[in-house]
Amino acid sequence: MKDTLILGIESSCDETAAAIVKNGQEILANIINSQISIHQQFGGVVPEVASRKHIENIAPVVATAFREAGLKYNDIDAVAVTNRPGLIGALLVGLSFAKAFAYGLGKPLIAVDHLQGHIWANILEHREIEFPAICLVVSGGHTSLLYMEDMGTSRLIGQTRDDAAGEAFDKVARFLGLGYPGGPAIQKAAEQGTAGIYHLPRVFLDRNDYEFSFSGLKTAAMNLWIKQSRRGEVRVEDMAAEFQAALVEILVEKTIRAANNYQVRSIMLAGGVAANQSLRQLMTIRAQQEGRQLFYPALGLCTDNAAMIAGKAYFDYITGNFAPLNINAQPSLNSL
Ligand code: KG4
Ligand code: ZN
Repeated sequence: MKDTLILGIESSCDETAAAIVKNGQEILANIINSQISIHQQFGGVVPEVASRKHIENIAPVVATAFREAGLKYNDIDAVAVTNRPGLIGALLVGLSFAKAFAYGLGKPLIAVDHLQGHIWANILEHREIEFPAICLVVSGGHTSLLYMEDMGTSRLIGQTRDDAAGEAFDKVARFLGLGYPGGPAIQKAAEQGTAGIYHLPRVFLDRNDYEFSFSGLKTAAMNLWIKQSRRGEVRVEDMAAEFQAALVEILVEKTIRAANNYQVRSIMLAGGVAANQSLRQLMTIRAQQEGRQLFYPALGLCTDNAAMIAGKAYFDYITGNFAPLNINAQPSLNSL
């Protein structure tokens, strides 16, 4: 069978990314232009700035992907792009570019859900995943547990009621003066600290469902920090360690509970927070104890990238699920 080469484009937040993936698995190029250093000074992503930077970056990033893969524009079979969910202005830059590129080349356009892309990051590396599986998607905008019949069929079984896990990491890190993005900053501080010196609640862990709430955990961390600061006894590393431990324990135990109740073979992690070492470690131990196979993407494929978009699009390509050129971007978060 002829190889299928798909160009993926991702611009839903603060990364301008382009990748070329062969047959949904083999990454030929994976270019990511991160705007983190630009947004750092504001303590978070500024949507208008992100859109403008995407406009500057998109053409060179795509050109670099082709150069790296050693391919000509006409060699690809389809153009895939994230069209939902995300910052509307940021999404529109990638989508408009992808439409023009596909139209100019006479190739089909494939619209990809960013979250489905995150899940696909697992498939880029692991062909051996056995279904059904439970997938925990944890990013800056999402905390969702999915029951996956196979790669194409998923059902949402629980999600956060308020803040996403990554959002909680980012907000608490900002409050503690640890900088942006908060997940890696808290992880680094936590390595020098000890969990359990301060105590934070394991919110919703006592509930027998798959719902999460991280806003309360975030507020508890902030209140405890203020109280301890007044007493003059604060160690930011210990607070970071306890916050990370509480959040990770909730994520891990709810995921394991779901895997046991649904009797699945495999557990998958996806999204930026899946890069967290503590989450990976505890989930590995617990999955082993319960006899479940655990899969997570390589670090660089957990956070936003276009290889996962081109990978997911392969599935759409073989099923003929193409997008019309008048398709729009959708900022909304309820896409799964
Ligand atoms: O998937 P992603 O790159 O973008 C979204 O789709 O939101 O996820 C970004 C989120 C941020 O909140 C960031 O703080 C978090 O992932 N993150 C981490 C780590 N690396 C990134 N959280 C915890 N530990 C990490 N090592
Ligand atoms: Zn993402």
